[in-house]
Amino acid sequence: MTEVTMVVNGKSVTKSVKGNTLMSEFLREELRLTGTHVGCDTSQCGACVVHVNGEAVKSCTMFAAEANGSEVKTIEGMENPDGSLGVIQQAFQDHHGLQCGFCTPGMVMSAAALLKDNPKPTEAEIRDYLEGNICRCTGYHNIVKAIMAASGQDVTSIAAE
Ligand code: FES
Ligand code: FES
Repeated sequence: MTEVTMVVNGKSVTKSVKGNTLMSEFLREELRLTGTHVGCDTSQCGACVVHVNGEAVKSCTMFAAEANGSEVKTIEGMENPDGSLGVIQQAFQDHHGLQCGFCTPGMVMSAAALLKDNPKPTEAEIRDYLEGNICRCTGYHNIVKAIMAASGQDVTSIAAE
C-alpha cells in the first residue's frame, strides 16, 4: 500500500492505496465521488475524464498513486460555490446536451479543458476535441451546441435536434 495525498475539488485528502488502484476506482470507491463514470475501463469512452493539474485525463488510464501531490477536479467540483450548476453544466441543461447522462460528466470535463485553452472554439474544433468522448445515445449535436453556448457564442441559428 502507498499513501497518497492530493487536493480533490479543493479539499486535501490522504489515503492508502494499492499500487494498481486506478484513479477512476480511487475517486469512485475511496472518495465516493461517483459522478466520474466508468464506461469501458480501456481508455476509449471518455466517461471518466477528470482534470489533474488542470489537464483533462482519462482517470481509468492512470493509477491513483500517480496523482500523488496533484490538484484534481471532478464533475462534483464544477458547480458554482453556491451549489448551482456551473456555466457548462447549465448550458448542457439548457440545450439538451444529454440523454441518459452517462457520458455527460466526461463531456463536461473535456469541454472545460477545451474552453480553457480555446475560449471560442468553432463547431469543428469542438467535434475534433471530443473525439475521445463517446456518447452512445449519439447526442453529439446538442452537446456541441451546449459547449458553443457555454463559450458565449450565439447558437440561435443552430437547429435543435
Ligand atoms: S472508462 Fe475511462 S475511457 Fe472509458
Ligand atoms: S447521453 Fe447517453 S451516453 Fe451520452
